[in-house]
Amino acid sequence: MRAQGSDWWKQAVVYQVYPRSFRDTDGDGLGDIRGIVSKIGYLDELGVDALWLSPFYPSNLADGGYDVIDYRAVDPRLGTLADFDDLVAAAHARGMKVIVDIVPNHTSDHHPWFQEALAQGPGSPARDRYLFRPGRGEHGELPPNGWRSVFGGSAWERVDDGSWYLHLFAREQPDLNWRHPEVRADFERTLRFWSDRGVDGFRVDVAHALAKDLDSRPLDELDQDPVQGSGSPDNPLWDRPEVHEIYRAWRRVFNEYEPPRFAVAEAWVAPEHQRYYASPDELGQVFNFQFAKAGWFADEFRRAIADGLAAAADSGSTSTWVLSNHDVPRHATRYGLPQVRSRVYHQIANDWLLRDGSTYYEDRAHGTRRARAAVLMELALPGSVYIYQGEELGLFEVADIPWDMLEDPQARRTLHGDAIKGRDGCRVPLPWEAADAPAPAAWSASFGDGATGSFGFSAPLAPAGDGSADGVPARAAAAPHLPQPLWFAGFAADAEAADPSSMLALYRRAIAARAELLTATGDTSLSWMPASELGPEPDQVVGFERPAADGRALACVANFGARPVPLPAGEVVLASVDPVDGALPQDACAWVLR
Ligand code: GLC
Repeated sequence: MRAQGSDWWKQAVVYQVYPRSFRDTDGDGLGDIRGIVSKIGYLDELGVDALWLSPFYPSNLADGGYDVIDYRAVDPRLGTLADFDDLVAAAHARGMKVIVDIVPNHTSDHHPWFQEALAQGPGSPARDRYLFRPGRGEHGELPPNGWRSVFGGSAWERVDDGSWYLHLFAREQPDLNWRHPEVRADFERTLRFWSDRGVDGFRVDVAHALAKDLDSRPLDELDQDPVQGSGSPDNPLWDRPEVHEIYRAWRRVFNEYEPPRFAVAEAWVAPEHQRYYASPDELGQVFNFQFAKAGWFADEFRRAIADGLAAAADSGSTSTWVLSNHDVPRHATRYGLPQVRSRVYHQIANDWLLRDGSTYYEDRAHGTRRARAAVLMELALPGSVYIYQGEELGLFEVADIPWDMLEDPQARRTLHGDAIKGRDGCRVPLPWEAADAPAPAAWSASFGDGATGSFGFSAPLAPAGDGSADGVPARAAAAPHLPQPLWFAGFAADAEAADPSSMLALYRRAIAARAELLTATGDTSLSWMPASELGPEPDQVVGFERPAADGRALACVANFGARPVPLPAGEVVLASVDPVDGALPQDACAWVLR
């Protein structure tokens, strides 16, 4: 049973679609909206409550679509508004909700507003929608201050007439001036536009950056890079108090609808500040990324769970749980790499990626085993679970994409700074059909050529005219926009659907069991199991219990340690690996009804 009513989002399983890499129906090598419609049955069987679509708007793809040219349209390469309406109808017909991504901090540099700002020149009203400032130095040849973009390099870019504009991300993503009434009005119009088309909610991109204060102090006195999420009211860029006034206005828009629309904030802020974004008079929910940050250590997961629950209680909302998304290395890989305690987000995985996956051994068996345990732990938790496309297939990060084929601006911008390879390795087009395997590419024996097959990502094109008679193959689609490794053959959705031991089978069973046993109660309480029930090394075990729908309790036990943990007496409803003599081995998780 899928969640309905105005609280549907409080304990939903949300599936994140990265549309350009999900499925391609017109053979241009880029996923499209009809591709999502074509897989609606797959998503239905997976059992998810909602789809979140990463941006599908017209874009120059300077940042994977997070550089938006028109907020109220579909990129023609991805389809039309009519296709979008069909998608909403198809999802709703199966009881699934649809969430779209709103990118309010910046537009594309090809957005008409920015083009107008460039054309109208310094001091013009059009420039005031962005954050243009004069440079330093005798001729203004130096940026206004030393701020760095999140993607590396200066956060300022100079235009032909000598002024500089702020871009916290890529230079093709100029930051908007949220003090400008037209900016505010236009985004409210966008929220209504999609809500009127039946969209149920929004994911708000870098929600903590909108309100900025560039004027209270001279810019060149602000040379220090302000730390994201510091929670200080003196921070000119991030998490400023005025941002909440914007979201209170958005809430008034959401409440014009029945049921009210909902939103989840991507806000990298101190835990004690999450509550504001998530509060019922603002967005509703906020992403808690601590779960995704945790290394494979019991204490890191325990802390992530405890902090997530505390933050949710504090805000009067529910927590969110994330293992992977389009911005982080896939977790089956992270858990297969050496585990170190680090303060830097995914440090080992990013180092490994930088050397094309050659520095550390990626133990895939280990990674898969832990990923199976992790998702059972995650789906047992109260609150919403956000699943990133392909994790249900157990996909690993594609580490060795050649550098000249990368799309992510992070890779380009950091080449001469703190280098990172970027996020393309988790954005490779999905494998749907094992039999549609491509031949090895001329440039690498480990990648497909994309022309002879794409694991079902691109639908085969009918040959033009009587082409088939001339021996022209039916398939003449363009290669997928990022190359698919040949090992994807072992992870194709059709093969996994037929294999009861696959990752996909586990996700299906666990999502169904969660709906039936846990979310059906509406109860979001959780109690930690006492150490006496957690085997010989309780520190190495995460064990909690929740009320189950049939009046029993569901115990979730995850064992990180080497010594087997005797499971509590009861009915084992799910286990990531089979228990041995009633005990749970290392790197495994089980659900027990008792
Ligand atoms: C968010 C998105 C990321 C994007 C950035 C800039 O962090 O998740 O993909 O690059 O915002 O829009």
